[in-house]
Amino acid sequence: MANPAVPPSQPPRAPRSTPRESLRTWPNIAGIAYGGDYNPDQWPEATWVEDARLMQEAGVSMVTVGVFSWARLEPTEGTYDFGWLDQVMDLLHAHGIGVDLATATASPPPWFSRRYPQSLPETREGHRLWPGSRQAYCPSSPDYRAASVRLATALATRYGKHPALVMWHVNNEYGCHVPQCFCDESAAAFRRFLQARYGDLARFNDAWGTAFWSQHYSDWDEVLPPRSTPAHPNPTQQLDWWRFSSDELLNCFRAERDALREITPDIPVTTNFVGMLKPIDYFSWAREEDVVSNDHYLIGEDPDGHIELSMTADLIRGLAAGTPWVLMEHSTSAVNWQPRNLAKQPGQLRRNSLQHVARGADAVCFFQWRASRSGAEKFHSGMLPHAGTDSKVWREVVELGGNLRALAEVAGSRVESDVAIVFDWPAWWAVELDSHPSVDVEYLPLVREMYAALWRQGITVDFVRPDQDLSRYKLVVVPSLYLVSEAAAANLTQYVSAGGHLVCGFFSGIVDVNDAVRLGGYPGAFRQLLGIRIEEFFPLRQAETVALSDGGTGSVWTEALHCEAAEVTARYVDGPLLGWPARTSNRFGDGTAHYLSTRHDPATLDRVLGQICDRVGVSSPIIAPAGVERVRRRDASGNTSYLFVINHTEREVDLVVAGAEILGDAMNDHADGHVVVAPGAVAVLKENLAAPHKE
Ligand code: GAL
Repeated sequence: MANPAVPPSQPPRAPRSTPRESLRTWPNIAGIAYGGDYNPDQWPEATWVEDARLMQEAGVSMVTVGVFSWARLEPTEGTYDFGWLDQVMDLLHAHGIGVDLATATASPPPWFSRRYPQSLPETREGHRLWPGSRQAYCPSSPDYRAASVRLATALATRYGKHPALVMWHVNNEYGCHVPQCFCDESAAAFRRFLQARYGDLARFNDAWGTAFWSQHYSDWDEVLPPRSTPAHPNPTQQLDWWRFSSDELLNCFRAERDALREITPDIPVTTNFVGMLKPIDYFSWAREEDVVSNDHYLIGEDPDGHIELSMTADLIRGLAAGTPWVLMEHSTSAVNWQPRNLAKQPGQLRRNSLQHVARGADAVCFFQWRASRSGAEKFHSGMLPHAGTDSKVWREVVELGGNLRALAEVAGSRVESDVAIVFDWPAWWAVELDSHPSVDVEYLPLVREMYAALWRQGITVDFVRPDQDLSRYKLVVVPSLYLVSEAAAANLTQYVSAGGHLVCGFFSGIVDVNDAVRLGGYPGAFRQLLGIRIEEFFPLRQAETVALSDGGTGSVWTEALHCEAAEVTARYVDGPLLGWPARTSNRFGDGTAHYLSTRHDPATLDRVLGQICDRVGVSSPIIAPAGVERVRRRDASGNTSYLFVINHTEREVDLVVAGAEILGDAMNDHADGHVVVAPGAVAVLKENLAAPHKE
């Protein structure tokens, strides 16, 4: 039934006049929020009452409603059907469940694509994608932009004062399927972006290095996206295209967000990120949100999936500048989109969820509440599986609800860390451009390896931008920073000079923000800081390894390195650079800058980073065997802290701790300062840091 867009009769809420920053503190949900995506429009009305009852049983406090409901909410252009959503909002409110209401703009309905065919995205090859799945829109389409803002406005007008509304969920996973569109509309928007960035054609031609291959532009209209070309497209064109495409999607988000803020200034706005998604520079996005949220899906076949989970959670906390964030989606068990969708083992759901909480999440949500009956995701797990409540998944969902209630006091506390890893999207885009010395230099594996080495030692890491204040860190790790701005290079240099300690990976500091080589000897921006000069790169053959003088091995990359001020800490003992330095260390100002000129094997990386951590006074919150994750969160007063101990091993562990379990095995006797954590189990201790640690 089509209803005009009028608000339902709900008691008005008192407007709050808080600054937006404080919206990050979760005004409307007490403790750690718990829930998932709820798609009632896939189910008959009779199911909704059962849903609400079971949500209560599981301790659900927040659900995201209507992510893919555009076709149902606006069945024909300009006519709205809010009747069903009115009922759902009221029902959820009556059961004490808050709603993170989606603007439903992630999947334009069939009428939209038919009416506005030019809004469909186009590939690099000039091929239009068809509707019939989801996310079939061009980010630069004015028709899409207008229609999405209209729908967001209609929803805000209707539900802005509904007492169930706790947050706005704009769109869904921007760019996860269509991060870039190469159509003419996008080309025009790209030109506007470039004009704003460079001002005039002379600066633009200079930045793109168009003297090369007769690429000089004499009119803005000649400029195109990097569509399919006979040979390598201009690298700076490609780099700016990544920048533009990330910004253009951000403009879609901003347009909806501004419409929502206009009507509901006191309701926080979020959109769900997808962790380390290459096309979207989330550092530039995060500052535009009130609350940072993320979706994380474990790769079932990855034996180190729990390390990758930790890494993503730490990145998200970095995006949120250390403030609590929302785990908007993860899975109770199998997903539907991996080649082999492994079910989670008993206890894994809980372990994974609490890993996120340990690393700063103040909300644990799943995709989705009730497993779908039809559609592409019908074999994706849900909180309520096809098997119903007599199932492992449901029992664990209910148990987790109880666990999160027990951890309510942890909400709002901050994660402690002395180590930062520098992460940078433009550097990622640039280092993986074509026509480089080796196709084997990939950004994420380098980040992952450094992260994993620290994880294995129980060291919690913050993810930071290269140009942010680093002074509070004892150690900063730069896995790869091929492209670096003047400001970021100066920041890293100043950090070390003031007494900081830095570890830098190979092929860093090489180009400026336009991908132009910094002349005068590699590693350009970091030559002085590292006290080295690289004469020539010697990338290795695929799968080739070289031996290092400390017993380790290197792969992917080597280089002819001269020490100018640095000292050699390891040499190549075979390979093309026999006898040349492989690793160096340079005293610079009051600090030290270490350099790794090859990709180190994991055991060597563990040892090298471990020794550096020892030297600079970085340690794990407690001593524990390998495979036992331990992370500390501390409340605002600084007096109370919470230690999360997550046992990923198959053995029981007995650890020395100071504090009492607020979650764990009731059998533990805390008087003796020990905690026993069963294989696969989790313990959370409220610490008494004043008490002496018994070792
Ligand atoms: C996410 C998406 C959800 C659902 C889920 C399945 O990427 O936001 O809508 O598709 O994946 O794992």
